[in-house]
Amino acid sequence: MLDDVRRLRPARTMHLLCQVAVDAPAVVVALHLEALLPRDARPGRAPDPRFDDLLLQPVGAFVEFQPLASTVTDNFFYLLHHGGDAILVDPVDAGVAIRAVRQLNPARVRILVTHGHPDHIAGNDEVVAALGCEVLAPAVAERWPTRHDLGLRDGDRIELGGEPIEIRHAPGHTDDHIIAIADGFVASGDLWFVGGCGHTRAGGHLPSLFDSFRRMSALPGHLRILPGHHYAAQNLAFCADLFPEDEALAARLTAARNWRREEGPWLPTLDEERAYNPFHRFADPRVEARLKTRYADLLDPTLRDPEERTFSALRRARDLFVAAAP
Ligand SMILES: [Fe+2]
Repeated sequence: MLDDVRRLRPARTMHLLCQVAVDAPAVVVALHLEALLPRDARPGRAPDPRFDDLLLQPVGAFVEFQPLASTVTDNFFYLLHHGGDAILVDPVDAGVAIRAVRQLNPARVRILVTHGHPDHIAGNDEVVAALGCEVLAPAVAERWPTRHDLGLRDGDRIELGGEPIEIRHAPGHTDDHIIAIADGFVASGDLWFVGGCGHTRAGGHLPSLFDSFRRMSALPGHLRILPGHHYAAQNLAFCADLFPEDEALAARLTAARNWRREEGPWLPTLDEERAYNPFHRFADPRVEARLKTRYADLLDPTLRDPEERTFSALRRARDLFVAAAP
Protein backbone atom coordinates (compact mmCIF):
# COMPACT_ATOMS: atom_id res chain seq x y z
CA MET A 1 0.00 0.00 0.00
CA LEU A 2 2.62 2.53 0.99
CA ASP A 3 4.70 1.52 -2.00
CA ASP A 4 1.89 2.59 -4.29
CA VAL A 5 1.45 5.88 -2.49
CA ARG A 6 5.19 6.50 -2.44
CA ARG A 7 5.50 5.93 -6.18
CA LEU A 8 2.88 8.47 -7.04
CA ARG A 9 3.14 11.12 -4.36
CA PRO A 10 6.72 11.37 -3.13
CA ALA A 11 6.48 14.72 -1.36
CA ARG A 12 3.30 13.91 0.49
CA THR A 13 4.52 10.44 1.32
CA MET A 14 7.68 11.80 2.90
CA HIS A 15 5.51 14.00 5.09
CA LEU A 16 3.37 10.98 5.89
CA LEU A 17 6.34 8.81 6.84
CA CYS A 18 7.77 11.51 9.08
CA GLN A 19 4.49 11.77 10.88
CA VAL A 20 4.31 8.01 11.28
CA ALA A 21 7.75 7.99 12.86
CA VAL A 22 6.76 10.67 15.35
CA ASP A 23 3.19 9.74 16.10
CA ALA A 24 3.30 5.98 15.59
CA PRO A 25 -0.37 5.00 16.04
CA ALA A 26 -1.99 3.49 12.97
CA VAL A 27 -4.74 6.04 13.12
CA VAL A 28 -2.22 8.71 12.16
CA VAL A 29 -1.36 6.74 9.03
CA ALA A 30 -5.03 6.56 8.15
CA LEU A 31 -5.57 10.26 8.66
CA HIS A 32 -2.65 11.21 6.47
CA LEU A 33 -3.56 8.75 3.75
CA GLU A 34 -6.99 10.30 3.75
CA ALA A 35 -5.37 13.66 3.23
CA LEU A 36 -3.98 12.41 -0.08
CA LEU A 37 -7.41 12.72 -1.65
CA PRO A 38 -9.25 15.91 -2.49
CA ARG A 39 -11.17 17.05 0.54
CA ASP A 40 -14.48 16.84 -1.29
CA ALA A 41 -13.83 13.21 -2.18
CA ARG A 42 -13.73 12.00 1.39
CA PRO A 43 -16.88 10.11 2.25
CA GLY A 44 -19.07 11.46 4.98
CA ARG A 45 -17.73 15.01 4.82
CA ALA A 46 -19.35 18.15 3.55
CA PRO A 47 -17.88 19.53 0.33
CA ASP A 48 -15.19 22.11 0.90
CA PRO A 49 -15.34 24.85 -1.74
CA ARG A 50 -11.70 25.72 -1.16
CA PHE A 51 -10.58 22.35 -2.55
CA ASP A 52 -7.10 22.99 -1.29
CA ASP A 53 -5.71 19.49 -1.67
CA LEU A 54 -5.18 19.36 -5.44
CA LEU A 55 -1.78 17.68 -5.81
CA LEU A 56 -1.04 16.78 -9.38
CA GLN A 57 1.73 14.26 -9.93
CA PRO A 58 3.70 13.44 -13.08
CA VAL A 59 2.72 10.42 -15.14
CA GLY A 60 5.13 9.93 -18.02
CA ALA A 61 7.37 12.59 -19.47
CA PHE A 62 4.95 15.47 -19.79
CA VAL A 63 1.49 14.91 -18.34
CA GLU A 64 0.62 15.43 -14.71
CA PHE A 65 -2.55 14.03 -13.26
CA GLN A 66 -4.78 13.68 -10.26
CA PRO A 67 -7.05 10.72 -9.46
CA LEU A 68 -10.43 11.89 -8.20
CA ALA A 69 -12.88 9.79 -6.21
CA SER A 70 -16.54 10.02 -7.12
CA THR A 71 -18.81 10.61 -4.16
CA VAL A 72 -21.93 9.52 -6.06
CA THR A 73 -20.68 6.18 -7.49
CA ASP A 74 -17.76 3.85 -6.76
CA ASN A 75 -15.82 5.23 -9.75
CA PHE A 76 -12.46 6.89 -9.85
CA PHE A 77 -11.84 9.43 -12.56
CA TYR A 78 -8.90 11.59 -13.60
CA LEU A 79 -7.79 15.15 -14.20
CA LEU A 80 -4.95 15.26 -16.74
CA HIS A 81 -2.93 18.44 -17.25
CA HIS A 82 -0.10 19.74 -19.39
CA GLY A 83 0.86 23.26 -20.39
CA GLY A 84 -2.33 24.91 -19.20
CA ASP A 85 -4.48 22.35 -21.00
CA ALA A 86 -6.63 19.93 -18.98
CA ILE A 87 -8.76 16.88 -19.68
CA LEU A 88 -11.26 15.28 -17.32
CA VAL A 89 -11.60 11.55 -18.05
CA ASP A 90 -15.12 10.23 -17.27
CA PRO A 91 -16.03 12.91 -14.68
CA VAL A 92 -19.14 11.23 -13.28
CA ASP A 93 -19.12 13.38 -10.14
CA ALA A 94 -19.59 16.88 -11.50
CA GLY A 95 -19.12 18.57 -8.13
CA VAL A 96 -15.72 17.02 -7.52
CA ALA A 97 -14.70 17.58 -11.14
CA ILE A 98 -15.70 21.23 -11.26
CA ARG A 99 -13.95 22.08 -8.00
CA ALA A 100 -10.77 20.34 -9.16
CA VAL A 101 -10.70 22.26 -12.43
CA ARG A 102 -11.40 25.58 -10.72
CA GLN A 103 -8.55 24.92 -8.34
CA LEU A 104 -6.20 24.14 -11.22
CA ASN A 105 -7.55 27.01 -13.35
CA PRO A 106 -6.23 25.80 -16.72
CA ALA A 107 -6.51 27.84 -19.91
CA ARG A 108 -8.63 25.08 -21.47
CA VAL A 109 -10.46 22.03 -20.19
CA ARG A 110 -12.22 19.24 -22.07
CA ILE A 111 -14.00 16.03 -21.14
CA LEU A 112 -12.83 12.69 -22.55
CA VAL A 113 -15.29 9.81 -22.22
CA THR A 114 -14.24 6.16 -22.48
CA HIS A 115 -17.71 4.65 -22.92
CA GLY A 116 -21.38 5.37 -22.51
CA HIS A 117 -22.28 3.64 -19.25
CA PRO A 118 -24.14 6.02 -16.93
CA ASP A 119 -21.47 5.86 -14.25
CA HIS A 120 -19.04 7.40 -16.73
CA ILE A 121 -21.15 10.04 -18.51
CA ALA A 122 -23.71 11.17 -15.93
CA GLY A 123 -21.65 14.18 -14.86
CA ASN A 124 -20.97 15.51 -18.35
CA ASP A 125 -23.83 17.95 -18.77
CA GLU A 126 -23.32 19.58 -15.39
CA VAL A 127 -19.58 19.93 -16.00
CA VAL A 128 -20.22 21.40 -19.45
CA ALA A 129 -22.75 23.87 -18.03
CA ALA A 130 -20.30 25.00 -15.36
CA LEU A 131 -17.08 25.06 -17.36
CA GLY A 132 -18.19 25.39 -20.97
CA CYS A 133 -15.94 22.57 -22.11
CA GLU A 134 -16.07 20.29 -25.12
CA VAL A 135 -16.90 16.60 -24.76
CA LEU A 136 -14.67 14.18 -26.67
CA ALA A 137 -16.40 10.83 -26.87
CA PRO A 138 -16.54 7.61 -28.90
CA ALA A 139 -17.92 8.13 -32.37
CA VAL A 140 -21.17 6.36 -31.47
CA ALA A 141 -21.92 8.95 -28.80
CA GLU A 142 -24.81 10.34 -30.82
CA ARG A 143 -26.80 7.50 -29.23
CA TRP A 144 -26.11 8.87 -25.77
CA PRO A 145 -28.41 11.16 -23.83
CA THR A 146 -25.60 13.55 -22.91
CA ARG A 147 -23.80 16.09 -25.04
CA HIS A 148 -20.81 15.29 -27.20
CA ASP A 149 -18.79 17.49 -29.54
CA LEU A 150 -16.22 15.27 -31.22
CA GLY A 151 -16.61 11.60 -32.10
CA LEU A 152 -13.39 9.66 -31.67
CA ARG A 153 -12.41 6.62 -33.71
CA ASP A 154 -9.61 4.09 -33.59
CA GLY A 155 -6.30 5.74 -34.45
CA ASP A 156 -7.46 9.30 -33.85
CA ARG A 157 -5.12 11.64 -32.06
CA ILE A 158 -5.98 14.44 -29.73
CA GLU A 159 -3.54 16.76 -28.01
CA LEU A 160 -3.00 17.84 -24.45
CA GLY A 161 -0.89 20.95 -24.25
CA GLY A 162 0.56 20.09 -27.66
CA GLU A 163 1.47 16.52 -26.70
CA PRO A 164 -0.27 13.63 -28.46
CA ILE A 165 -2.81 11.28 -26.96
CA GLU A 166 -3.74 8.33 -29.16
CA ILE A 167 -7.24 6.92 -29.20
CA ARG A 168 -7.85 3.20 -29.65
CA HIS A 169 -11.21 1.53 -30.08
CA ALA A 170 -11.28 -1.25 -27.48
CA PRO A 171 -14.75 -2.82 -27.57
CA GLY A 172 -15.94 -5.72 -25.47
CA HIS A 173 -17.10 -4.22 -22.18
CA THR A 174 -19.27 -2.08 -24.47
CA ASP A 175 -19.16 -1.79 -28.23
CA ASP A 176 -18.28 1.91 -28.02
CA HIS A 177 -15.38 1.66 -25.58
CA ILE A 178 -12.21 3.61 -26.32
CA ILE A 179 -8.96 3.97 -24.42
CA ALA A 180 -6.53 6.89 -24.49
CA ILE A 181 -2.80 6.26 -24.69
CA ALA A 182 -0.06 8.79 -24.02
CA ASP A 183 3.56 8.70 -23.00
CA GLY A 184 3.33 7.16 -19.55
CA PHE A 185 -0.29 6.11 -19.14
CA VAL A 186 -3.38 4.49 -20.53
CA ALA A 187 -6.78 5.82 -19.49
CA SER A 188 -8.40 2.40 -19.66
CA GLY A 189 -11.96 3.05 -18.51
CA ASP A 190 -13.58 -0.31 -17.81
CA LEU A 191 -11.33 -2.34 -20.12
CA TRP A 192 -8.60 -3.08 -17.57
CA PHE A 193 -8.75 -3.22 -13.79
CA VAL A 194 -6.23 -4.30 -11.19
CA GLY A 195 -6.28 -8.10 -11.37
CA GLY A 196 -9.17 -8.26 -13.80
CA CYS A 197 -11.07 -6.71 -16.67
CA GLY A 198 -14.46 -5.26 -17.50
CA HIS A 199 -17.45 -7.59 -17.69
CA THR A 200 -19.69 -8.06 -20.71
CA ARG A 201 -23.04 -8.15 -18.92
CA ALA A 202 -24.22 -4.65 -19.86
CA GLY A 203 -24.06 -4.40 -23.62
CA GLY A 204 -20.77 -6.24 -23.93
CA HIS A 205 -19.44 -8.88 -26.30
CA LEU A 206 -16.92 -11.47 -25.12
CA PRO A 207 -15.17 -12.16 -28.46
CA SER A 208 -14.65 -8.42 -28.89
CA LEU A 209 -13.24 -8.12 -25.39
CA PHE A 210 -10.69 -10.81 -26.16
CA ASP A 211 -9.82 -9.15 -29.45
CA SER A 212 -9.23 -5.87 -27.60
CA PHE A 213 -6.96 -7.57 -25.08
CA ARG A 214 -4.96 -9.26 -27.81
CA ARG A 215 -4.61 -6.10 -29.91
CA MET A 216 -3.51 -4.09 -26.86
CA SER A 217 -1.04 -6.74 -25.72
CA ALA A 218 1.62 -5.04 -27.86
CA LEU A 219 1.44 -1.83 -25.83
CA PRO A 220 4.62 -1.00 -23.91
CA GLY A 221 4.72 -2.39 -20.40
CA HIS A 222 5.80 0.82 -18.69
CA LEU A 223 2.43 2.46 -19.31
CA ARG A 224 0.50 3.08 -16.11
CA ILE A 225 -3.16 2.07 -16.10
CA LEU A 226 -5.74 4.65 -15.04
CA PRO A 227 -8.88 2.50 -14.58
CA GLY A 228 -12.44 3.59 -13.96
CA HIS A 229 -12.89 1.48 -10.84
CA HIS A 230 -10.80 -0.16 -8.17
CA TYR A 231 -12.06 -3.72 -7.79
CA ALA A 232 -8.73 -5.17 -6.70
CA ALA A 233 -10.01 -7.15 -3.69
CA GLN A 234 -12.67 -8.99 -5.68
CA ASN A 235 -10.45 -9.53 -8.71
CA LEU A 236 -7.41 -10.68 -6.76
CA ALA A 237 -9.56 -13.08 -4.75
CA PHE A 238 -10.42 -14.74 -8.04
CA CYS A 239 -6.75 -14.77 -9.12
CA ALA A 240 -5.62 -16.22 -5.77
CA ASP A 241 -8.33 -18.87 -5.91
CA LEU A 242 -7.06 -19.88 -9.34
CA PHE A 243 -3.40 -19.89 -8.24
CA PRO A 244 -3.43 -20.53 -4.47
CA GLU A 245 0.26 -21.48 -4.46
CA ASP A 246 1.31 -17.96 -5.59
CA GLU A 247 2.56 -16.26 -2.41
CA ALA A 248 3.09 -12.88 -4.05
CA LEU A 249 -0.49 -12.94 -5.24
CA ALA A 250 -1.70 -13.81 -1.75
CA ALA A 251 0.21 -10.86 -0.32
CA ARG A 252 -1.28 -8.59 -2.94
CA LEU A 253 -4.75 -9.85 -2.05
CA THR A 254 -4.15 -9.12 1.63
CA ALA A 255 -3.09 -5.58 0.76
CA ALA A 256 -6.18 -5.17 -1.42
CA ARG A 257 -8.46 -6.31 1.39
CA ASN A 258 -6.86 -3.77 3.72
CA TRP A 259 -7.17 -0.99 1.15
CA ARG A 260 -9.31 2.00 2.02
CA ARG A 261 -11.06 4.06 -0.61
CA GLU A 262 -9.45 7.18 0.80
CA GLU A 263 -6.10 5.92 -0.48
CA GLY A 264 -7.21 6.27 -4.09
CA PRO A 265 -6.94 3.61 -6.78
CA TRP A 266 -3.88 1.46 -7.33
CA LEU A 267 -2.34 2.43 -10.65
CA PRO A 268 -0.09 -0.44 -11.79
CA THR A 269 1.89 -0.55 -15.00
CA LEU A 270 0.92 -2.92 -17.77
CA ASP A 271 4.02 -5.00 -17.01
CA GLU A 272 2.95 -5.35 -13.40
CA GLU A 273 -0.52 -6.46 -14.45
CA ARG A 274 0.86 -8.89 -17.01
CA ALA A 275 2.76 -10.66 -14.21
CA TYR A 276 -0.30 -11.74 -12.21
CA ASN A 277 -3.52 -10.78 -13.98
CA PRO A 278 -4.65 -13.96 -15.80
CA PHE A 279 -6.69 -11.96 -18.32
CA HIS A 280 -3.41 -10.63 -19.71
CA ARG A 281 -1.95 -14.16 -19.70
CA PHE A 282 -4.32 -15.80 -22.19
CA ALA A 283 -1.26 -17.15 -24.09
CA ASP A 284 0.30 -18.65 -20.95
CA PRO A 285 -0.13 -22.46 -21.01
CA ARG A 286 -0.13 -22.46 -17.19
CA VAL A 287 -3.40 -20.53 -17.21
CA GLU A 288 -4.97 -22.92 -19.69
CA ALA A 289 -3.74 -25.90 -17.66
CA ARG A 290 -5.21 -24.49 -14.45
CA LEU A 291 -8.53 -23.83 -16.14
CA LYS A 292 -8.63 -27.45 -17.27
CA THR A 293 -8.40 -28.56 -13.66
CA ARG A 294 -10.73 -25.95 -12.17
CA TYR A 295 -13.15 -24.83 -14.86
CA ALA A 296 -12.97 -27.49 -17.58
CA ASP A 297 -16.66 -27.12 -18.35
CA LEU A 298 -16.12 -23.44 -19.23
CA LEU A 299 -13.53 -24.15 -21.95
CA ASP A 300 -15.65 -23.87 -25.07
CA PRO A 301 -14.55 -26.58 -27.55
CA THR A 302 -16.15 -24.69 -30.44
CA LEU A 303 -13.55 -21.93 -30.04
CA ARG A 304 -10.68 -23.10 -32.22
CA ASP A 305 -8.26 -20.40 -31.05
CA PRO A 306 -6.77 -21.71 -27.79
CA GLU A 307 -5.97 -18.20 -26.56
CA GLU A 308 -9.54 -17.04 -27.09
CA ARG A 309 -10.78 -20.26 -25.46
CA THR A 310 -8.63 -19.53 -22.39
CA PHE A 311 -9.67 -15.89 -22.16
CA SER A 312 -13.36 -16.66 -22.60
CA ALA A 313 -13.27 -19.34 -19.91
CA LEU A 314 -11.53 -16.93 -17.56
CA ARG A 315 -14.18 -14.28 -18.04
CA ARG A 316 -16.98 -16.81 -17.51
CA ALA A 317 -15.24 -18.20 -14.44
CA ARG A 318 -14.85 -14.68 -13.04
CA ASP A 319 -18.56 -14.06 -13.57
CA LEU A 320 -19.36 -17.19 -11.59
CA PHE A 321 -16.81 -16.59 -8.89
CA VAL A 322 -18.04 -15.52 -5.51
CA ALA A 323 -15.14 -14.42 -3.40
CA ALA A 324 -14.91 -16.11 -0.04
CA ALA A 325 -15.14 -13.76 2.89
CA PRO A 326 -11.66 -12.62 3.97
FE1 LIG B 1 -18.73 0.43 -17.69
